[in-house]
Amino acid sequence: MERCLCYVTLCLLGLGLLQTDAFEVEIKDGSKRTCIYASMKINFTIEYETNSSKFRNVTLAAPDSVTTEGSSCGETTLLNVSFGNGHFWSLLFMKNNKEYKASLLSLIYNTNDMVLFPDAKNKGQFTSSTNTSFFEPVPLNSTYKCFHDDAVITEHVVQLYWNVTLQAYVENSTLGKDFQCSADIPTTPTANTTTLPSTTATTPKPTPKPIDKPTVGNYSVSNGTEVCLLASMGLQLNASMLVEGKNVWTVFNINPNTTAYSGNCGNETSLLRLTDTNTVVEFYFLIAFFIKQMLI
Ligand SMILES: *[C@@H]1O[C@H](CO)[C@@H](O)[C@H](O)[C@H]1NC(C)=O
Ligand SMILES: *[C@@H]1O[C@H](CO)[C@@H](O)[C@H](O)[C@H]1NC(C)=O
Ligand SMILES: *[C@@H]1O[C@H](CO)[C@@H](O)[C@H](O)[C@H]1NC(C)=O
Ligand SMILES: *[C@@H]1O[C@H](CO)[C@@H](O)[C@H](O)[C@H]1NC(C)=O
Ligand SMILES: *[C@@H]1O[C@H](CO)[C@@H](O)[C@H](O)[C@H]1NC(C)=O
Ligand SMILES: *[C@@H]1O[C@H](CO)[C@@H](O)[C@H](O)[C@H]1NC(C)=O
Ligand SMILES: *[C@@H]1O[C@H](CO)[C@@H](O)[C@H](O)[C@H]1NC(C)=O
Ligand SMILES: *[C@@H]1O[C@H](CO)[C@@H](O)[C@H](O)[C@H]1NC(C)=O
Ligand SMILES: *[C@@H]1O[C@H](CO)[C@@H](O)[C@H](O)[C@H]1NC(C)=O
Ligand SMILES: *[C@@H]1O[C@H](CO)[C@@H](O)[C@H](O)[C@H]1NC(C)=O
Ligand SMILES: *[C@@H]1O[C@H](CO)[C@@H](O)[C@H](O)[C@H]1NC(C)=O
Ligand SMILES: *[C@@H]1O[C@H](CO)[C@@H](O)[C@H](O)[C@H]1NC(C)=O
Repeated sequence: MERCLCYVTLCLLGLGLLQTDAFEVEIKDGSKRTCIYASMKINFTIEYETNSSKFRNVTLAAPDSVTTEGSSCGETTLLNVSFGNGHFWSLLFMKNNKEYKASLLSLIYNTNDMVLFPDAKNKGQFTSSTNTSFFEPVPLNSTYKCFHDDAVITEHVVQLYWNVTLQAYVENSTLGKDFQCSADIPTTPTANTTTLPSTTATTPKPTPKPIDKPTVGNYSVSNGTEVCLLASMGLQLNASMLVEGKNVWTVFNINPNTTAYSGNCGNETSLLRLTDTNTVVEFYFLIAFFIKQMLI
């Protein structure tokens, strides 16, 4: 990618947490002890080919009523959730002596579903899966909690999930202590403020400060064997944030020194995720590229 200085203006989507469906499931072993607990909201956006050879996206929210046949505890700890007309969503877990993670995420969708795919050209079951971790590794006997949304892109499918409570390898049928995802951890002020807020009810107005040019950072993503995405850029963002019901525009830089990055590459889609102290910017590269989401 060209060396560039990108000034990006974004509108923060806020977390428009509408009350949509959420499912809650518990997987038990033969002796009725819980090994997996999961509750979350997921939206799937699936691109399919219609009978007039056009592509169309359909979005479905995982409903609150699901079944969990095919899930298992033990050597293969698998959450296999089935919903609607022959759709399956599954997470395969792995652990070492300290942590566990979801090692394989897959969605099997059935285009025979006349409600979702009335005009699908190819009828049948399609599988879209990835090794991308659904969440960061979690210490054993801890419950992963993440209120913020996150997305995983697999072939033809974008999975958006939020308000996740999940634990695999549950011990003694009791959820362990909470493990908060990094996106949810609030920023800690660098210095203690000595002045107390004034007693009046007015909101302190953020004073706009002149802002330096952003530092150029170099980011690369490998597909396992080769670097597949290379970006060199300085990022300055102008974002609108909701402060006490009012939109406030704030300009800030992404500092490469404090920014962690990750990503993945697929045939058709690639992802570059930059995580600065309290900001996550995700670049999704499709045929063109666009910023899918930014969380602050
Ligand atoms: C489907 O959604 C993806 C990601 O949101 C988008 O890039 C793609 O253009 C959409 N396809 C159609 C046919 O609208
Ligand atoms: C999830 O999908 C449902 C149904 O299509 C839609 O109403 C809702 O707005 C979506 N939610 C998000 C956060 O995308
Ligand atoms: C989930 O269950 C369905 C139906 O039993 C099966 O076809 C599918 O392969 C299972 N998924 C996984 C990842 O095992
Ligand atoms: C495509 O499928 C829809 C729904 O089954 C049908 O109404 C329509 O006539 C089909 N169009 C073509 C070109 O086959
Ligand atoms: C996941 O990774 C394993 C090896 O680590 C590989 O065998 C498998 O094909 C990968 N699966 C996907 C869907 O990329
Ligand atoms: C998030 O999930 C919890 C249960 O795990 C539920 O009580 C809460 O209402 C949900 N919040 C939103 C905004 O969906
Ligand atoms: C498991 O839970 C039961 C009931 O809550 C409790 O009596 C028992 O001490 C627990 N065992 C361990 C090893 O934590
Ligand atoms: C798991 O975590 C819970 C809560 O922190 C604790 O009470 C329990 O003893 C732990 N169980 C084991 C086996 O470490
Ligand atoms: C900041 O405040 C906390 C709690 O009020 C206090 O424990 C800590 O010592 C303070 N730190 C500094 C640098 O003043
Ligand atoms: C990485 O990309 C290169 C070049 O496109 C390809 O040859 C290689 O097979 C890819 N590796 C993986 C693990 O996908
Ligand atoms: C980043 O680190 C370099 C080297 O330590 C330093 O020269 C530079 O000023 C830092 N940039 C920012 C924006 O903190
Ligand atoms: C993705 O790449 C694999 C291996 O190169 C190929 O078999 C598959 O057809 C590709 N998928 C798409 C949708 O291009």
